[in-house]
Amino acid sequence: MKILVTGGAGFIGSHLVEALTERHNISVIDNLSNSTLENIRPVLDKITFLEIDYDNISENFLSKHEMVLHLASSVGVLNTINNPEEIKKDVECSCRLIDKAKRSGVKSFIFTSSSEIYGDKTKKMHEEDIPRPVSTYGKAKVKIEEHLQASYDKDQYLILRLFNVYGTRQKSGPFGFVMNTFIEKAVRHESLPIIGSGAQTRDFTQVQDIVNLILMLISNRDVPYNIVNIGTGVSTSILELAHNINKIVGNDNVTYIEKRAYEIEHRTADNKRIKDLTDYEFCSLDEGLRKLIDSHLLDLKKISP
Ligand SMILES: NC(=O)c1ccc[n+]([C@@H]2O[C@H](COP(=O)([O-])OP(=O)(O)OC[C@H]3O[C@@H](n4cnc5c(N)ncnc54)[C@H](O)[C@@H]3O)[C@@H](O)[C@H]2O)c1
Repeated sequence: MKILVTGGAGFIGSHLVEALTERHNISVIDNLSNSTLENIRPVLDKITFLEIDYDNISENFLSKHEMVLHLASSVGVLNTINNPEEIKKDVECSCRLIDKAKRSGVKSFIFTSSSEIYGDKTKKMHEEDIPRPVSTYGKAKVKIEEHLQASYDKDQYLILRLFNVYGTRQKSGPFGFVMNTFIEKAVRHESLPIIGSGAQTRDFTQVQDIVNLILMLISNRDVPYNIVNIGTGVSTSILELAHNINKIVGNDNVTYIEKRAYEIEHRTADNKRIKDLTDYEFCSLDEGLRKLIDSHLLDLKKISP
């Protein structure tokens, strides 16, 4: 199948593109605003790569594809709070992309949405729950979901709500994600910063699981749903995560820092749909952590052998 991946040089996108090139004919669009070409260097000679903003994509180019996998987005809740203009642009451009794809005859459209659309819930989050996003990022994802639902026929689109994805190539830093921030500090035997009490929970899902499941969904022509959660269904507190990482690395420091206003307390997937569809066994957090820590340790050795 001829598939276009937007944001294909990013964290999730690059892992996905690597796997997709084995079976499909892949085009990637990325403006490299939050990634580097190094992420897809090993597959560059097997794909068509355009370094442009996806808003500038022509209908002629779109019409050469049967499927669009739309991953390009501003990411990180804090990032989007600090840069509201970016998220507004994401909504407008994503809606335009959906319209253009539809007009160009692209048969199916897959959009990576987020668990952020559910807001704060102690119960597991089910696809049929009414979205109650708290963050601008979550609200933007809801708007794009709604536009896709109104534009494409039911058997032509899929919304994937991803839960806290982690893995290699994910960025840390000020807008970074907790997992890599913790591991980068732990391997240097620095203290891990816990926001608030650390009792807030997340559903950490390994990027390879996301990739495997997207491949399975693409090859299944009869997915009876339009919205599917991808998360392990296991909730882990931030404090537990810090202790697990410290234990594996042989570190024992944590520091408590002030809670942020926008912190969501709990987030866990009800993953019955994806389990029923694929019978897939998710990687355990312990195994995923060990693999990711090994790769960080390897990187550290390369910097200071
Ligand atoms: N990482 C997670 O935990 C997570 C969780 C839920 C949903 N998601 C969603 O999955 C998708 C991929 O996320 P990621 O973590 O890989 O982020 P990422 O930032 O690594 O990847 C996004 C890519 O899109 C590119 N991009 C951004 N704006 C663009 C534009 N206007 N034109 C062209 N390219 C552009 C960036 O350069 C980057 O390579 C996003 O839609 C994100 O909202 C991610």
